[in-house]
Amino acid sequence: MDYGLKNRLSRIIKPNDNRTVMLAIDHGYFMGPTSGLEDVKNSITPLLPYADSLMLTRGILRNQIDAGIDIPIVLRVSGGTSILKDDLSDEDITVSMEEAVRLNVSAVALSIFIGSKNEKQGIINLARLIDEGNKFGIPVLAVTAVGREMARDARYLSLAVRIAAETGASIVKTYYCEDFEKVINTCPVPVVVAGGKKTAERDALELAYNAVRSGAAGVDMGRNIFQSEKPVNMIKAVRAVVHEGLTAEEAYNTICNK
Ligand code: 5RP
Repeated sequence: MDYGLKNRLSRIIKPNDNRTVMLAIDHGYFMGPTSGLEDVKNSITPLLPYADSLMLTRGILRNQIDAGIDIPIVLRVSGGTSILKDDLSDEDITVSMEEAVRLNVSAVALSIFIGSKNEKQGIINLARLIDEGNKFGIPVLAVTAVGREMARDARYLSLAVRIAAETGASIVKTYYCEDFEKVINTCPVPVVVAGGKKTAERDALELAYNAVRSGAAGVDMGRNIFQSEKPVNMIKAVRAVVHEGLTAEEAYNTICNK
C-alpha cells in the first residue's frame, strides 16, 4: 500500500490496537441544523480531545473548527439531496480531491445506497473518488447508507459492505446488526459502525461493545455522543469500550453516569 495512504489511515485507526473512535458531525449535509449541532463550535470543541478523528463537511471544517487543533479530518464529500426528499440516494461527489488535499484531510467519505434506484451512481462515484484519492494517497471511507425500505440485517449489510470494499474503499462504515460477525468476516478492510438515532447511553455503549467484540475497528458515532446529556462523559465512555476493553456496563457506571 502507498506510504501516504497508509500513513493517513494510521492517523484514523490507531496502530497500537487497530481501533478507532471517530466522531461524526456531518449530519447537516442533508439534515440541516441537526439537534445538538446548532452551535457546532461550542458543542464539539470539548469533545475533540477524546476523538481519534472528526467526520464533517468542508463548510463546518472551515468555519467552526480551529485550524490549530491536531485532529485527523474525515471529509464528507458526497451530497446533493435533503431530508425533504423521499429518496436520499441521489448523491454525487460535492468536493474535489484537490480541495480535500488543500484542507489537509486524512480521508474522504462518500455514501453508497445498495438496492436503491441510484445504486449504480453511488458505486461509480465511489470508484471515481477512490481513483482520485489514490493519486494523492487519500483513503476513502464508504458509508453504506440504508434506505427506509431496506432491512438492516447481516445479509443486506454484508452485501453492501463487501461491494464497498471490492470497489476499493479503505474503510467501510455500516450499521450494527445481529450476526455482525458475518459482515466483518466477509469484508477485507476495517469496518466501523454508526451509532444511529439517539438511544439510551447504556444501549449505545452496548452497541459499541458488541461491534468491537464482533471484530469492528470501532465506531463512527455522532448523535449518541453529541445529543447525550453529558457528551464529554459519553465520548470518554465510548473510548473506554473501544480502546480499553471495558464492558458497556462498566463504562456506563464508572464514566458515563459519573
Ligand atoms: C450520515 C452519516 C453520519 O455520519 C452517521 O449516520 C453517523 O452518525 P450517527 O452515529 O449519528 O448515526 O454518515 O450519512
